[in-house]
Amino acid sequence: MSSLVLAWRIVGVVIILFMQSVTATDCACELAGGGKPFPKDKLLSIETSAIKCNENIQLAKVSEEASLRLGLHKRLLQLQDEVSVLEQEDDGGLYGAVSLRIIEMELAEILQLINRLNTTHNMHRSLGANVHGTMQQVQAELKSLEEFDHMQIAQKLEENKRLQRSLAQCQEELQATPPPPTPPPSNCPHGPLIRVDGPRTYTITQYGTSYHYGSWGRDPKPARGKEGWYWLIPLTSSNVYANYVRQYNSLSALVAGVGPVDVSIASANPTTNTIQGPNVVMYGDALYYGCYNSPTVCRFNLTSRQVTTVALPANSGINNKFPFCHLGACYVYTDLDLMTDDSGVWVAYTSAENFGDVMLNQVESGDVPRLGRTLKTSLHKRTATNTFMACGVLYATRYVDKETEEVFYSFDSRTGVERHNLNIRFKKMQTNIHSLNYDPSDHKLYAYSDAYAVSYDAIFE
Ligand SMILES: *[C@@H]1O[C@H](CO)[C@@H](O)[C@H](O)[C@H]1NC(C)=O
Ligand SMILES: *[C@@H]1O[C@H](CO)[C@@H](O)[C@H](O)[C@H]1NC(C)=O
Repeated sequence: MSSLVLAWRIVGVVIILFMQSVTATDCACELAGGGKPFPKDKLLSIETSAIKCNENIQLAKVSEEASLRLGLHKRLLQLQDEVSVLEQEDDGGLYGAVSLRIIEMELAEILQLINRLNTTHNMHRSLGANVHGTMQQVQAELKSLEEFDHMQIAQKLEENKRLQRSLAQCQEELQATPPPPTPPPSNCPHGPLIRVDGPRTYTITQYGTSYHYGSWGRDPKPARGKEGWYWLIPLTSSNVYANYVRQYNSLSALVAGVGPVDVSIASANPTTNTIQGPNVVMYGDALYYGCYNSPTVCRFNLTSRQVTTVALPANSGINNKFPFCHLGACYVYTDLDLMTDDSGVWVAYTSAENFGDVMLNQVESGDVPRLGRTLKTSLHKRTATNTFMACGVLYATRYVDKETEEVFYSFDSRTGVERHNLNIRFKKMQTNIHSLNYDPSDHKLYAYSDAYAVSYDAIFE
């Protein structure tokens, strides 16, 4: 009786031991999230611990199997004891047969245990192999991950360097004083206009007071042999039109009215290509003026006696549409203002599109004249009595009173900078100035004022 109970107890204990030994071991590997920059050292330690973990699994497997074996061994020993006890206590009866049956069943269970041990062993072996493979794979992946992240780090570092360089460059550029603006080359050695002195010349012409409108001056770029010459154009028809130019070989000849040379532009006056309006200039032995009844600049070549033309932009004002004015009156047919300066010939005018504000073009010479870029100013043409150019700067005058005219406005054709407060006043001999032009060769302003030829000195800074 006692041997049977003991046998059962042993079987139970062995089973419990077996169960415990199977479930006893686990292995946990903790992967801590990396910060930045990518922790290479940490990765190495992770690898190390991963390998350790792998080894632990193998160890655990071995120890589990060992305990299973030990348990089986003990059970077999106990079974052996049980069998010998059964032999001694054999009563040759029913009890012995029952005990034998129990031992039989126990043996079957031991056999099952052996099978389980075999299965566990095989499973562990394959599991170990699998874990090892997996670990190797993880290791390789980690390595490639490390490389990948290394590249990123390198890229970011490179990008940072580049950004730092451009930042430094930016700061340098900010700190550096901006280079002074380089104006286009100009044969203009002087600064802005500061004074108008005179008059230097003040004379009635050969025509007396017959023609109140007209113009006079010198050719800043005269033909050979005509260096000391002066030209004079009275508007002989309706104070608006002229059809010839008169030239004198000296100022005293003009003042005395002797030896004039007339060159005719057209036989009739007015007609196509005759002069319309007083603001005429001579440059390079050619006369530049507003063409008769047309928004066009005419160039009359004194050598060839030919007229070539260049049209102003569409809708440019002519025929007294946008004249120069002051509060009391407008100067008839002063829509176009031809001017000379150090760089050549210019034309000032306006159009309805520009709301009557002065527009400016250089008149470039060639086989036929051409217009340069159109420059737009904020100078309302009717608020000025005249304009002239000096050193690429457009100046405008206004009527102050009968004795005084004022240069009040400037527009720099190179920079577009405008000034409205110049306040350069000069003395008039007559009330009205109908034409005004700057001669860059002698730095004089030539004015035609109520039939008088007047000149002034232009003083620059
Ligand atoms: C142990 O398992 C292997 C593989 O399953 C098998 O070939 C072998 O016969 C088994 N041994 C025992 C004693 O059951
Ligand atoms: C004027 O005509 C002459 C002769 O044809 C020519 O040599 C000269 O270049 C012309 N001048 C202008 C400004 O066109």
